[in-house]
Amino acid sequence: DWQMGSYIDEAVAKIREQVGDEEVILGLSGGVDSSVAAALIHRAIGDQLTCVFVDHGLLRLNEGDMVMDMFAGKLHAKVIRVDASDLFLGQLAGVTDPEKKRKIIGGLFVDVFKAEAEKLKASGQGHKGATFLAQGTIYPDVVESGGTKTKKATTIKSHHNVGGLPDQLGLKLLEPLRELFKDEVRALGVGLGLPPDMVYRHPFPGPGLGVRILGEVKKEYADLLRRADAIFIEELRATKDAATGKSWYDLTSQAFTVFLPVKSVGVMGDGRTYDYVVALRAVQTSDFMTADWAELPYSLLKRVSGRIINEVRGINRVTYDVSSKPPATIEWE
Ligand code: XMP
Repeated sequence: DWQMGSYIDEAVAKIREQVGDEEVILGLSGGVDSSVAAALIHRAIGDQLTCVFVDHGLLRLNEGDMVMDMFAGKLHAKVIRVDASDLFLGQLAGVTDPEKKRKIIGGLFVDVFKAEAEKLKASGQGHKGATFLAQGTIYPDVVESGGTKTKKATTIKSHHNVGGLPDQLGLKLLEPLRELFKDEVRALGVGLGLPPDMVYRHPFPGPGLGVRILGEVKKEYADLLRRADAIFIEELRATKDAATGKSWYDLTSQAFTVFLPVKSVGVMGDGRTYDYVVALRAVQTSDFMTADWAELPYSLLKRVSGRIINEVRGINRVTYDVSSKPPATIEWE
């Protein structure tokens, strides 16, 4: 609409003024904030922006290709995709503690991103390379880290972010979403032509499937989990609630599948199976500090469980998590 159009024009002008003829790098994660920041900055400065997309091998089914299709394919932005899954999975081998896993994933992410940024600097054909680091920081992030709110005495889960990275890289910060709330970021994304499905996606943690595979992370587990989760999400999107006309995906704040590395006995045809278990998790919340488990229709749960067990060989049991937060957390790790 008109208001959004003029907001975009102003934001674009501001970015052009701040960046001038310099170059910008941005870490693209596939999440809403970095995607909208990338689309906005690309609108403003085109090829002066290079996006670095670090694929840690713990993304959802086809997620990496979707990010590339959108940004490199449709928006024609410069995107470097770094397939670092072997590195991440290698370092995670044998590690079972959730906080250790988070630290390893967060640390490697920074290392890989830094290496790409240095490479880009070194390759600067005739120019000095990037001087700006762009981040999709939004207003609630600013408030959280600015000491405006009293910090919680205990950290339950360390959410990795790339704080400190601009200093380490000697880069200036570009944060065009700093003044926006989440719903404004989403509206801006749609205004910039990003698909609503991408912009209204549920939040996905930085460590990705790394904290949705309980205990040790293995490629075999990630592959099974990706397929099971894709079925759950597909059915949530496809199933409409009669009363509201909305899909169950839109009626939940976050929904995903958790891989449990335990085996249970099942029966399939004439044979006995001894395979893995997954848990479905779906919650409704306004702030993610407290959350209720979602009362999904039994018919939907039945379809999802039937499809996962039939289509994903290696999983023979599906459970539904009926724990609210607190005392449970939304993620299982
Ligand atoms: P919990 O599990 O603490 O999750 O109830 C609350 C919200 O935070 C997300 N979450 C994370 N996000 N890095 C992230 O970027 C993390 O390590 C992390 N752990 C949890 C979770 O998905 C939920 O939206």
